[in-house]
Amino acid sequence: MNQYIAAAVGEMDKVNISKLEYPGTGAMDPSSCRFLAAFTRALGAKRILEFGSGFSTLMMAREIEAAEGNYLLSVDYSPRHSAMAKEAYETSGCQAKVEFRVAPLRPRFYGPKLLLSYGLPKGLIEALGPFDLVLIDAPHHDYGCESVLYDIFPAVAEGGYIIYDDANRADMEKNYLRGWKSAFGGDIDPVLLEGIGNGLSVIEKVADGRPRHRELSLPSSLKTIAGYTRLLLNKDED
Ligand SMILES: C[S@@+](CC[C@H](N)C(=O)[O-])C[C@H]1O[C@@H](n2cnc3c(N)ncnc32)[C@H](O)[C@@H]1O
Repeated sequence: MNQYIAAAVGEMDKVNISKLEYPGTGAMDPSSCRFLAAFTRALGAKRILEFGSGFSTLMMAREIEAAEGNYLLSVDYSPRHSAMAKEAYETSGCQAKVEFRVAPLRPRFYGPKLLLSYGLPKGLIEALGPFDLVLIDAPHHDYGCESVLYDIFPAVAEGGYIIYDDANRADMEKNYLRGWKSAFGGDIDPVLLEGIGNGLSVIEKVADGRPRHRELSLPSSLKTIAGYTRLLLNKDED
């Protein structure tokens, strides 16, 4: 087994999650949070990129706090959830350098596939990288967050890792993984940890290839249109 995954699995039960801090609804499963913290530590990560701000931000920030040059950029599409995560972080006392950014989701073609992509200024992520670790914790509803890996791959260090949550969901994250494998081939090495929380996928960036978008996926493109319509109608904010 991969050395960092093995170390994290061995240590995760020692990670403490405060009942006073853990928000419950909306946050990653507690065991996923424990693994995430233990993996960040095992990897010795210093620079982290996150999509889906919240309790996970704090879990990772605490692990990089002592490292010189630490930095975590946390991106969310929702101004409300980003502000809540920022407030929780600022009251936590953690001193890691964390920045929160809101980036609206908007449709974009990846080859023949229409996906929703976080609207960040061109070149920003590359300028702030390379990142050792990226967490993708997509919104609850299917917004086609498969795009994230295509957008940020050049900014991930070779030998760096991408973790994504809810990896067991058949119609969503499992589809994203199929798309990523088709596009990146041997440039990524994914490991699915089905037994942790709702499933975690840990993907090593093995080489710095460009994605090859070959798949024509009408269902993905239709889901993207449905998801974008929901977003515009603001149906998923509660
Ligand atoms: C699962 S949450 C992110 C959680 C974060 N990584 C954590 O561990 O706390 C993923 C996305 O869902 C959105 N979200 C969180 N709570 C929500 C809610 N109650 N209704 C709708 N969207 C929500 C956030 O804006 C975020 O983009």
